[in-house]
Amino acid sequence: PPTGPTDLVVFGGTGDLALRKLLPALFLCETEGGLGPEVRIIAVSRDGVDDAGYRDKAASAVRDSPSVLRAGAVSGALVRRFTDRLHHVSLDLDQPGGGWEHLSDLLGGDRDRVFYLAMPPMLFGRVCADLAANGLVTDRSRVVLEKPLGRDLASALAINDEVGAVFPEERIFRIDHYLGKETVQNLLALRFANMFLEPVWNNRWVDHVQITAAETVGVGARRDYYDRSGAMRDMVQNHLLQLLCLIAMEPPAGFDPDAVRDEKVKVLRALKPMSGLEALERTARGQYTAGTQAGRPVPGYAEEPGADGPSDTETFVALEAAVANWRWAGVPFYLRTGKRMARRYSEIAVQFRDVPHPIFPGQAAAPNRLVIRLQPEETIHLHMLAKEPGAGGLRLRPAPLELSFADTFAVRSPDAYERLLMDVMAGDPTLFMRRDEVEAAWRWTDPIISAWQGSPPEPYAPGGTGPGGAHRLLARSGRSWLD
Ligand code: BG6
Repeated sequence: PPTGPTDLVVFGGTGDLALRKLLPALFLCETEGGLGPEVRIIAVSRDGVDDAGYRDKAASAVRDSPSVLRAGAVSGALVRRFTDRLHHVSLDLDQPGGGWEHLSDLLGGDRDRVFYLAMPPMLFGRVCADLAANGLVTDRSRVVLEKPLGRDLASALAINDEVGAVFPEERIFRIDHYLGKETVQNLLALRFANMFLEPVWNNRWVDHVQITAAETVGVGARRDYYDRSGAMRDMVQNHLLQLLCLIAMEPPAGFDPDAVRDEKVKVLRALKPMSGLEALERTARGQYTAGTQAGRPVPGYAEEPGADGPSDTETFVALEAAVANWRWAGVPFYLRTGKRMARRYSEIAVQFRDVPHPIFPGQAAAPNRLVIRLQPEETIHLHMLAKEPGAGGLRLRPAPLELSFADTFAVRSPDAYERLLMDVMAGDPTLFMRRDEVEAAWRWTDPIISAWQGSPPEPYAPGGTGPGGAHRLLARSGRSWLD
């Protein structure tokens, strides 16, 4: 059902996230009829732009958005209907002037309020306190926080306390947009709406798991943000660990927000801590150098715009995690993410053990593998061996079972932010991170990040598969990356 009367207030309303992701996603919600007639979107930023100027900016952002173009959804009437919902409030947190009063006058009484903080995490506590001080937080208000939540456990605890002083936990929505991806949700369906996987989903049948999020882009104009975060804080602490949770979690007792999140947090708490030398041995970090990618020259991380000379920030991480519980003891979870890799794809591969005793002549080891591809295409493949047709003997050949969501369902998959924004407006936190999840994730990543101090990342060439260390990490146990 379309969203009821709601004011969605986006702080950082002229920023990259708002223009590139949030507005296009909201526009797509509009085209699907998801936004009720009484939804308003109020962008807040330091810019001195008025409503008309902001509407123009938003219209271009929507028209240029690849996901809108892919959906083939632009019509002048729809864009106008959407931009008519938009308002802009100029507000400088350091020099508030009349900004807060203007926002307060604009917000309606008998409506839901969603405050979306698309800004750096060190401002979250401050903005929440200002919202409260200006009397803007009602019983029907929610707050949405973008990841990464802080830069370590200590800062995450402080932010969670500051935000928690204004909003109760059930009205805090911590976004990890990977949880809004269709195939990620499908993973829950695959595991918990079907029976056949459960008996083999454990250390007796699974050899190891590989989770990869590879990107072709570099950090580009985000070098300043990236230097303060690096791939571990930007991708592993949140996106990759969330995927690991969904693979490793026990079946929840129901599909309600806390039942699902209780099971995920148990996985995070079961991650075997690693620090010092062990952390160095079980991880590989890299930083891309200058080179060529897809035939064109690309700058190295140290030469990206805004670069202040060389830095020890990693743009690639690979690591071996262990989930220390009955189901997963002894099964390595290999996580890997990097910028400027050969191809853009994100996938989870569950590699089963080899057959105990090969009976076919010349049978090479080709263990079964379930591969869940999140992007660019959304597919599930089960790799298995079959007999090659022909009367002359029995020859085996890999023959995957394939499920393509695009072909099977023939409908457009919503963008991750579409789904999550609709969930926030509906007040459903199932696909958002609870406070204890974020904290448990930092508790695990902090000692690894500390162990890296003083050891620079290994350089790797753009357009490849990352640094040699990533390959050595698996080679130690006779394994290799699948791609
Ligand atoms: C963001 C990171 O959370 O995820 C970016 O900050 C990264 O650095 C992006 O590029 C990747 O998202 P997706 O949906 O393109 O895989």
